[in-house]
Amino acid sequence: MKHFTTVHDVANVQALVSDALQLKANPYDYSTLGKNKTLGLFFLDPSLRTRLSTQKAAQLLGMHVLAMNMDRDGWALELEDGAVMNGDKAEHVREAAAVLGQYCDIIGIRCFPKLADKREDYSERTLVKFLHHCKTPVISLESATLHPLQSLADLVTIAENRPQNRKPKIVLSWAPHVKALPQAVSNSFAEWMLASGNELTITHPEGMELCEDYTRGATIEYDQQKALHDADFVYVKNWSSYHDYGKPFTKGENWMLSPESMKVTNNAKIMHCLPVRRDVELSAALLDGKNTLVAAQAANRVYAAMAVLKNMLESGTPAVSGTKQKEFQAG
Ligand code: CP
Repeated sequence: MKHFTTVHDVANVQALVSDALQLKANPYDYSTLGKNKTLGLFFLDPSLRTRLSTQKAAQLLGMHVLAMNMDRDGWALELEDGAVMNGDKAEHVREAAAVLGQYCDIIGIRCFPKLADKREDYSERTLVKFLHHCKTPVISLESATLHPLQSLADLVTIAENRPQNRKPKIVLSWAPHVKALPQAVSNSFAEWMLASGNELTITHPEGMELCEDYTRGATIEYDQQKALHDADFVYVKNWSSYHDYGKPFTKGENWMLSPESMKVTNNAKIMHCLPVRRDVELSAALLDGKNTLVAAQAANRVYAAMAVLKNMLESGTPAVSGTKQKEFQAG
């Protein structure tokens, strides 16, 4: 695997899930695979789980880790090619990404959408610039449109908890929120569930359809109770409007799941990527109940990241070398 930014970077999704499960069972089996290699984790937006789980994954594989909150501790980044940099942006992504590529063998980058301009966000300009200029393998730590490390961990969690004798019924249910949130987790969840051969039902208020590029093949059901009927897994997530781009849906309080609304399910497990706003997105009773998988999902982030890093390391990630330094100097 050269990069990890979408399910389409993965040759065999089931094999990656199996790898993650094996790494979970034997987390120290590859403790020298990453010796003398450095992972850089660079955040343009906040994180708890992604930062710590990916750092832990790298350390279990024997890698060195550099982590930086670039939004707060780095220079303001200019993305525009040809910009005359006489404003508030002090560093161009061309140099910033190239420099990080000198320090690291693999780079992870988190870059959320601004939710103002759909074309800009869905072009993934920041991620693409890093892919182009850092010259190392790149892992998305959540981009403007996708969160593949989360989705891989979700798939691992479903594999561990699914009924063995039949396909599970998996439902992605829109949830209320006080803010407009990105579509990335939901896009990615749909993409990974469908790519792995699962059936997916998505339920949300009318008008809150996600981008069809990610949901094609899923069943869309506007009646939440109908969608939840016989569900084995309910993935709860807010997202802002894709079509009326970035706008929150403000009349959806009755979409918050509670023990009462879950009665029609097949004793479904509750999933959420976290962080979650209690009694806004999801009732505290469900979060604290016996069917919650939210902590298990967060735990599996470590093994998902390990599986991705192991695959990249085994693909022969080149060491940070003099050759790369010459390339940088030559521009
Ligand atoms: N689920 C997730 O990505 O959590 P963080 O935003 O805390 O990394």
